[in-house]
Amino acid sequence: MATRYTDANNTPYGSGDPYYSSSGYITPAPMKKRTSNWLKFGIPVLIAVIIAAVVGGVVGSRNHNNNSTSASGKSSSGSSSGSSSGDQAAAASSAVSVQNALGLVPTATNSLYLIPIYPSTTNTAAFTTPTLSTSKDASIGWPADPFQPSNASPTNVRTDRPRLIAPAYKWEVLPELITKSPYLRAWNDTIFGNATQYYGLDNVQYFMDGSSGILDNCRYVKERVKAWAYAYRMTNDTKWVDRTVKELTHAASSDFGPSNSTKWNPTHFLDTAEMTAAFAVAYDWLYDALTADQKTTIRQNMITYGLSQGLDAFNNPNIGWWTGKDIHGNWNCVCNSGLTLGALAILGDDDTGTAEKILGLTVPNAIQSCAQAVSSDGTWAETANYWYFGTTGHAEMSSALITATGSDQQLLTSNQNFALTGYFHMAVFGPGSLFAYGDHGPNKYSATANSMFLYGDFYKKPEFILFQRDQFDAGSDPWSMFWYNPLASGAFWDGLALDHFFDDSLDQWAAMRSSWTDQNALYVAIKAGQLQNHQTHNDLDAGDFVLDAMGVRWAGELGSSDYNSEGYFTSDAQNAERWLYYRKRTEGQNAILVNKANQNVNAAPTVKHNTSGEAQGSSTVYNVPSDSTAFWTANLVSAYNDTQSYQRGIRMINGRKQVLLQDDIQASQPIMWRMHTNATVSVDPNGTSATLKIGDQTLTMQLLNAPSGATFTTGPAERFSDDPPTPTGWADPANPGVTVVMISLPAGTYSLQVLFNPQWSGMQSSDFKTPPSVSLDQWTLKSHDS
Ligand SMILES: *[C@@H]1O[C@H](CO)[C@@H](O)[C@H](O)[C@H]1NC(C)=O
Ligand SMILES: *[C@@H]1O[C@H](CO)[C@@H](O)[C@H](O)[C@H]1NC(C)=O
Ligand SMILES: *[C@@H]1O[C@H](CO)[C@@H](O)[C@H](O)[C@H]1NC(C)=O
Ligand SMILES: *[C@@H]1O[C@H](CO)[C@@H](O)[C@H](O)[C@H]1NC(C)=O
Ligand SMILES: *[C@@H]1O[C@H](CO)[C@@H](O)[C@H](O)[C@H]1NC(C)=O
Ligand SMILES: *[C@@H]1O[C@H](CO)[C@@H](O)[C@H](O)[C@H]1NC(C)=O
Ligand SMILES: *[C@@H]1O[C@H](CO)[C@@H](O)[C@H](O)[C@H]1NC(C)=O
Ligand SMILES: *[C@@H]1O[C@H](CO)[C@@H](O)[C@H](O)[C@H]1NC(C)=O
Repeated sequence: MATRYTDANNTPYGSGDPYYSSSGYITPAPMKKRTSNWLKFGIPVLIAVIIAAVVGGVVGSRNHNNNSTSASGKSSSGSSSGSSSGDQAAAASSAVSVQNALGLVPTATNSLYLIPIYPSTTNTAAFTTPTLSTSKDASIGWPADPFQPSNASPTNVRTDRPRLIAPAYKWEVLPELITKSPYLRAWNDTIFGNATQYYGLDNVQYFMDGSSGILDNCRYVKERVKAWAYAYRMTNDTKWVDRTVKELTHAASSDFGPSNSTKWNPTHFLDTAEMTAAFAVAYDWLYDALTADQKTTIRQNMITYGLSQGLDAFNNPNIGWWTGKDIHGNWNCVCNSGLTLGALAILGDDDTGTAEKILGLTVPNAIQSCAQAVSSDGTWAETANYWYFGTTGHAEMSSALITATGSDQQLLTSNQNFALTGYFHMAVFGPGSLFAYGDHGPNKYSATANSMFLYGDFYKKPEFILFQRDQFDAGSDPWSMFWYNPLASGAFWDGLALDHFFDDSLDQWAAMRSSWTDQNALYVAIKAGQLQNHQTHNDLDAGDFVLDAMGVRWAGELGSSDYNSEGYFTSDAQNAERWLYYRKRTEGQNAILVNKANQNVNAAPTVKHNTSGEAQGSSTVYNVPSDSTAFWTANLVSAYNDTQSYQRGIRMINGRKQVLLQDDIQASQPIMWRMHTNATVSVDPNGTSATLKIGDQTLTMQLLNAPSGATFTTGPAERFSDDPPTPTGWADPANPGVTVVMISLPAGTYSLQVLFNPQWSGMQSSDFKTPPSVSLDQWTLKSHDS
């Protein structure tokens, strides 16, 4: 395609939005400091006693599920089919009681992603196997949708309103469900709080933000409209309708953008799509309260500035490049979703035929492209962060089709791998932050991880629902109120494997951890995979890894460079300008360099791995067996020139308290091992040990069996002076606070073995193990027992 429009800039935004990740632009926020008292000495008691007392009686009598779990993490949970409806009702009622007894899990306000702080309890009755009751008892869960058309076509819509995402039968029972569910109760309060806060603000002002267009504007409007329309339907107070109309009137007025059909900036179609979605929700959810004139105006604006532009886009590849067959990513999902919501909202009222035409285009196009953005193992084809945008669009569109037409129209079923994408999200979510490889994306005003609710319900994966309901971003999104199934019960971690391996050649990667519920847990994630076909959002980063321990990220990512930079998205070919920017170059990753060169874009790594296979049990206090381990190795020789052989491997040592990273390499040019850290690094005088400090936590690194002349050195996270220059006027953003730990060696054959020893509280120096030297070819689960 000739032009690739960027999706937003990367300007730091001070909204407090937890999903805005501005790595490199700001000084690292202090992480939560806690001692790691789970580690081998005693078991925290804390609030276990209270929970046990409250829940014991309830759970003791419930229809308890078989507790067997699979080590693969694809737990055997789900609706316990075969049980009688009486059992279902009892289980469901018990699920509701347990939730009320446990209440909400607090979130860590000083962590980047406001991660949940799970209560330290060994009471296994409180947290059980993930279960999803299929009860249709409307006093505790959603009743069946009365709209069950025999001909579920995209243009055959239900006759009652709303049609989109939240049909009338759900609004009817919602107030009662709110009284039964602490989650729904808290989220309802948050949405009302947000609606009230937005109410007093000025209309969103038009601001053309360079190549990011008016995306922020449109997402703001959508966020507001969702909250106001929700507040109206819950109160019947027309002040919310009036405020919504005022906002929509402004967003279609001469004060907002050009006074022609390009008002919503269709050349950057995400903007058009998000604004169309905002208008669609207002039109549909406020339908009964709007006057005929107001409806006509909203509809006409939606057609002129939104849907007609969509028809144009499908005919014009310059504007509609995102309709392409190979656009497996957020653009295709968000654009088709916004247009679909708009068309479904006005179908039947629109006598121009535009809505029908749009649905004839968006549904097949999204199945062809958006639905293919999840690969065979559930991994999102762009990055861990773009998963939020893409799945929000995909889930909104799927949900709207289900409610409006009685069918997902195959958006959820054409690629069954979507049933796995919740595992991708959970595995890529470390105790401190995402394994945030590649680009991070712009502000997430209207994108969340709440697709987990829809996917969990649709694919019968209660663990997705249970994971997401404790997350901060579940709370301020009206979609949560309707996607959340209150009959999900248990703990997502009960039976969930500690290690997850993703082997699709597009993104081979692995995540290994010591616990799902301890925010101080050990977490390692590492990747290989292809270096193209990620919608130009990836880095040249085969072998890149992150390491978390004791609530701190020790080896981390630099994230996006400046999205406005020349050539940033133009191409992912070897000579692309994108690969001139430090944060995208191989030297900007936690990887090996050969001859200081970028990796080859056509690399085709192969991977191997194994795990001792533990899954966490129902307790939040999990003690890893002392022989628990996992490893992952990749043959990365195809990523490098001047390299005769190269494998990288990483493994858990000493019951997942230490980590060994090993590179077995033969190169005919100098090599350099690199790792980026926010820590203060001091290299010990002998050069083969280094001490890293972040806050009051310490981690040491040791170079084992150091080759002659091999020592740790440190340097700034900056390009080499002899790198090819960035395009004129586009310097690299600075990386304040980041240090690169390096090992530089001349051409030769080496086994570089770097041991990471987090200094867990209560652990003596004699408790650390020094693993034997084993070539990567020989790694097995037992190879490092000594
Ligand atoms: C939803 O939250 C609002 C604001 O806190 C509250 O007034 C209302 O009663 C809540 N709705 C229900 C059904 O509890
Ligand atoms: C919505 O309300 C919550 C709870 O008060 C708050 O944390 C969040 O920042 C609000 N969201 C916005 C966008 O203002
Ligand atoms: C709002 O009006 C609808 C329709 O008349 C009614 O069913 C519902 O109970 C009302 N809700 C409130 C909170 O008054
Ligand atoms: C719309 O108006 C803007 C600003 O006046 C102008 O730059 C643009 O060319 C116009 N576009 C069309 C399609 O008329
Ligand atoms: C440094 O800390 C920031 C903020 O927590 C984080 O986004 C970034 O990834 C960290 N950088 C590294 C190299 O760990
Ligand atoms: C590696 O060598 C090939 C063949 O000579 C060349 O095309 C490619 O640009 C080189 N890669 C890098 C990163 O220099
Ligand atoms: C993993 O290790 C187990 C135990 O040593 C072994 O039986 C199995 O074959 C290994 N799997 C792979 C894929 O190597
Ligand atoms: C290097 O020095 C550190 C700290 O002084 C020490 O712990 C380590 O054992 C030394 N390593 C070698 C190989 O001498």
